[in-house]
Formats: sequence, C-alpha cells, structure tokens
Amino acid sequence: MAKENSTQSGIEERLDRILTLELARVTEAAAVAAARLRGHGDEKQADQAAVDAMRTELNNLPIDGKVVIGEGERDEAPMLYIGEEVGTKKGTAVDIALDPLEGTTICAKNLPNSLAVIAVAERGNLLYAPDVYMDKIAIGPGYKPGLIDIDAPVLDNLQALARAKGVKVTELTACIMDRPRHARLIEEVRAAGVAIRLIGDGDVAGVIHTTDPEMTGIDIYIGIGGAPEGVLAAAALRCIGGQMQGRLILDTPEKVARAKKMGVEDPNRAYTMEEMARGDVIFSATGVTDGNMLDGVRFGRDSISTHTVVMRSASKTVREIKAVHHDLGKFG
Ligand code: FBP
Repeated sequence: MAKENSTQSGIEERLDRILTLELARVTEAAAVAAARLRGHGDEKQADQAAVDAMRTELNNLPIDGKVVIGEGERDEAPMLYIGEEVGTKKGTAVDIALDPLEGTTICAKNLPNSLAVIAVAERGNLLYAPDVYMDKIAIGPGYKPGLIDIDAPVLDNLQALARAKGVKVTELTACIMDRPRHARLIEEVRAAGVAIRLIGDGDVAGVIHTTDPEMTGIDIYIGIGGAPEGVLAAAALRCIGGQMQGRLILDTPEKVARAKKMGVEDPNRAYTMEEMARGDVIFSATGVTDGNMLDGVRFGRDSISTHTVVMRSASKTVREIKAVHHDLGKFG
C-alpha cells in the first residue's frame, strides 16, 4: 500500500484510494444497524446487529483480509473473530482491526461517543493484541516527538504538555475512564490541578479527542482500557497525527502465554503508536450516538443520515463524510 512509482503500485494506489471510501461504507452500515437498537438497553443485540452488517459489507470489498483485532477468539465469537478471513480474497493482503460497536453500553443507554470503527493495514502491520487491558497515554498533533513517556510520573507528563502548549497545568483537561482501577491516577491528576473528563466507556473516542482540543476540550488521554481499542486508537492517531504509547497488562501467566502465542515476546514492552500500527493505515469511524466529534445516526422519513471520519496515514488526509442515504434497502 506504500506509494511507489511502478505500474503495479499505481494500480494498488488506486485500489487504496477506492478502499478508503469503501471503508466508510463499512462503518456506516455497522453504525446504522447498531443505531436502530440505540437506547434499547440491550448491548448484545446492538453489538450483534453491528457485527452482521459490518461483515456483510466487508465481504464485498476487493481485499484479501484477515481480522487481527476482532470480536474475540473463534470459539467465543461466531463472526468477525480473530483470524477470520474477509473480502473477496482477490485484492491486496491486509490485516483488519475492527470494533463494529465500540461502546456497547453507551449505545444501549444512548449516551455520547459510541462508534463503529475499522482500521486496515498491509498484512503484518498491526499489533496482534490479545483481548487484555492496555495502559495508554496519548496527546494530539503539533508537539515535539517524545514529549510524553508512559514510564514517567504522570505529573511530569502533564507539566511537559502544559509547557509545550503554553498554558498553565491547571488549564489542561485529561480524559480518564471512570473505573475504580484509576482511583490513584485520578487523585494524582486532580492534585496537579488538572481537570478530568471522566468517561464511562469508549476510549477509542477518548484518545481521538486529544487530536482536537479546541473542539473536544481534551488535551491528553491517560489510563487503562482495552488493548484492542488501543490498537484502533493508535491507527487513528497515525492518520491524524499525535503521539501515543501503550503497554499490555499481562498480569497472569495465562495472559503472558496467550500474548506470546500472538507474537508478544516481551510482556513488559511499551509500544509506540508506530509499533502498534505500522506502514500505511486506513481508518474509518462512524458515529452511532452523538459525540464530541461525530454526530450519531439520524433516521428520517425517507432517508438515513450518517457522519463518518475516514483517514489515511500515507496522505494524512482526514475526510469527514456527512452522508444522506436514500437507498434504505442497502441497510437491510
Ligand atoms: P465495548 O465496546 O466492548 O463495550 O468496550 C467499551 C470500552 O469502554 C472500551 O472503550 C474500553 O477500552 C474498554 O471498554 C474498557 O474496559 P472495561 O469496561 O472493562 O474497563
């Protein structure tokens, strides 16, 4: 998928450009399916609807795709499981990280920021992360490389960010998941005088929100969330710009063994954003419920509206697509 000069790569380049827009269709379909069940209190049903819709769309794409971050292992996930092959199998060999409904609880309660999400990279370029937790830290674009360090005390990271942004540390806002495991982190951040946006779920959106503090009010994401969501967020930041680091939390021998099977040799390793999502990456997210950056799906009398952001790391193009769909048959 990298840009080259040969005729072959010219063809691939065109394919990729088509694929970028095709991926928007994939997340649109999943978002619409989930949104039909938004606010109905049934997380599983909404998730299943999103999975079914995403899989149908994916299988129409001219790719030889392999799901590397998916709905779980084959025996626990009937569809879009890790290792499942998708697409027509005739195109470029790609790895796929997906979450047809990121924020199932948010969707079931109709709260902000649930998304349908997918990232695609050339085969072997996404971190094969087991479904464990990941410690994460992320900031948006425009800062010198290496400004944040997952191993540094949180206060050091906050002070470095404040200095680089040219504001007082008390003028920063950090996004943290509202979980008991973060009690100490929350205390430390508040002791520094930094405001916290506590989120109930949906840390892919939490990380992406750092890329536009003017719009979202969030400067930094810190804390522990899902590892699959970490890889998806890293893929997004590769496209928009920003910095992120993550470390898998492998706190039992069973998790260490599971990770090793997926190629993780050093259980304590901290990954940079580039190590989680390498090479040329394409990312698409469609809002299911209304959020800080994306509107949720709207159902009209004879149309459905969706709001998607689709982007590519090679060109750093970020496209927002507000689509009004009249061919409602395609959404089943
Ligand atoms: P789901 O979409 O699978 O419900 O995940 C939502 C989520 O909030 C993620 O955004 C986050 O990374 C993870 O759950 C955190 O896990 P936990 O709820 O166990 O703290």
